[in-house]
Amino acid sequence: SAAEKGGWSSFMRKEVSEQPDAVANTIRGRITDGVVAIPELEGFGDDALRDIRRITVVACGTAAYAGMVAKYAIEQWARIPVEVELSHEFRYRDPVIDEHTLVVSISQSGETMDTLMAVKYAREQGARAISVCNTQGATIPRESDAVVYTHAGPEVAVASTKAFVAQITALYLFGLHLARVRGTLSDARLAEQVEELQAVPEKIGTVLEQADRVGELAHWMSDTRSVLFLGRHVGYPIALEGALKLKELAYIHAEGFAAGELKHGPIALIEPGQPVFVVVPSPRHSANLHPKVVSNIQEIRARGARVIAIAEAGDAAVLPFADEVIRIPLAAPLFEPLLAVVPLQIFAMELSQAKGLDVDQPRNLAKSVTVE
Ligand code: G6P
Repeated sequence: SAAEKGGWSSFMRKEVSEQPDAVANTIRGRITDGVVAIPELEGFGDDALRDIRRITVVACGTAAYAGMVAKYAIEQWARIPVEVELSHEFRYRDPVIDEHTLVVSISQSGETMDTLMAVKYAREQGARAISVCNTQGATIPRESDAVVYTHAGPEVAVASTKAFVAQITALYLFGLHLARVRGTLSDARLAEQVEELQAVPEKIGTVLEQADRVGELAHWMSDTRSVLFLGRHVGYPIALEGALKLKELAYIHAEGFAAGELKHGPIALIEPGQPVFVVVPSPRHSANLHPKVVSNIQEIRARGARVIAIAEAGDAAVLPFADEVIRIPLAAPLFEPLLAVVPLQIFAMELSQAKGLDVDQPRNLAKSVTVE
């Protein structure tokens, strides 16, 4: 009903706009005097956290992309190898698991059958399991050793938006908790990350202010038949998520690629007029990825691509080559995904609307898939 949508025309629009709160509420109670401590992990024990040799993330759909983003952060901060695997692939390949493996499942609903089976299987093999979940008392958290809830509030629209940013937030908190317990980051470095995380809600608010511009872009492109997304590092899973949103909501063929992979195949797809979204890493990225991505933009532009760059405020290097630039506020590179995903969600939502589709209930999809 209209009342449930709180005055918004769709649940999706409402949920996209609630993302600053989804992040802020997921942080709440887990940072005290600038120090990350997740109370739900107390029972799990610091010794158990120090004992972990490997983390395997299992999830499906958007949740799996949240896991891919978190891999970069957890490895960098806590120096534990992290692999991310689709639950249905993990479960059936005889994975190498032991009691030093921590399985982290991510599920908004906590009911996705494939993910539930993956968790049960991993525990049978002796692994410990932590669940990141948005639904109190759901099955997956009940089947896990510990749960770190996301506090995005109920997500009604089938395609996930606010749960995604809340999942990344929870996983980042987990990564910082691990780094503190394991002593892999100095107090000063930990404090910097905490500050970055706490600044995210307001920065998402700034990105949301550009919704109208992104909407115009979507309306111009409403007859587009294919859209490509490029990103690198943490921008890579965001490219995948941007493509997924467009498939789910606007039924448009879309693919995300790691920008470094362009020359190994995807560049052959570029023909005049092909729209390509590029998630541009910050010029301050320690691995100096920015010039590499700018040169990717030049390569596809030279072949006629229509480039929509998502770039940080003040990044002038993209201007000569991009047809459109959507700005995100300055943030440390690991925190950019929480900002860069927002225009991609809005783009897909607006394109769905422009095509007269049901943005909350896309055809053929279910909010939670409780069958294998
Ligand atoms: C379904 C939904 C997706 C979601 C996926 C995983 O396919 O349509 O939006 O990302 O399930 O759901 P979960 O509840 O496990 O996060």
